[in-house]
Amino acid sequence: MSKILIAPSILSADFSKLGQEIKDVEKCGADWIHIDVMDGHFVPNITIGPVVVKSIRPVTKLPLDVHLMIKEPQKYVESFVKAGADIITFHIEADGDPKETIRLIKYFKKKVGVSVRPKTDASKLQGILPMVDMILVMTVEPGFGGQAFMGDCLPKIEEIRKIFKKDIEVDGGVNEMTAQEVIVKGANVIVAGTSIFGTKNYAEAIKKIRGGI
Ligand code: DX5
Ligand code: ZN
Repeated sequence: MSKILIAPSILSADFSKLGQEIKDVEKCGADWIHIDVMDGHFVPNITIGPVVVKSIRPVTKLPLDVHLMIKEPQKYVESFVKAGADIITFHIEADGDPKETIRLIKYFKKKVGVSVRPKTDASKLQGILPMVDMILVMTVEPGFGGQAFMGDCLPKIEEIRKIFKKDIEVDGGVNEMTAQEVIVKGANVIVAGTSIFGTKNYAEAIKKIRGGI
């Protein structure tokens, strides 16, 4: 299995010193920076837009992993590309033809991911798997950080891993314990918000989530 990648979700960072928080997790071993974009329509919360992504871009060398929890992803792909996103993930449940959104992200030569909500069946991804670089399996209802991990999503990770050889990212309620459960099922990219930014020692938290002692 490939190396386990850790993508701290800045949703749980201290936004009054966001640049420093990002530098700190980079120094402490993070592999990607996970950025949760919410529009108040697809999910009941509003967070970050392209302007914030643009201001983050010069702060870190790490790939910016942009998770679009928005109703109309196609409309905003170009703005996030221009702002400096490296990986763009949108939801299969969002509006528009997913194949067109995938083609658009690829047109800009960015890595493309597709995400599924906890209640969405893996079969909904049929047909698009050969087109994408990553599948993002949500293990909480998208919208907020700090929610409890939904263990009933574990079989879905395993089901996707059987037929998909590229990156499988898991997002929501992942801590040092639940990380091991998702890794066993075949996930190789771990998003973690509270279990990193909610601790005092980011290096130790990242190491534990990755599976170190
Ligand atoms: C939830 C977001 C997650 C969230 C993770 O909608 O997509 O990325 O910030 O936060 P934790 O790790 O605290 O569940
Ligand atoms: Zn996310």
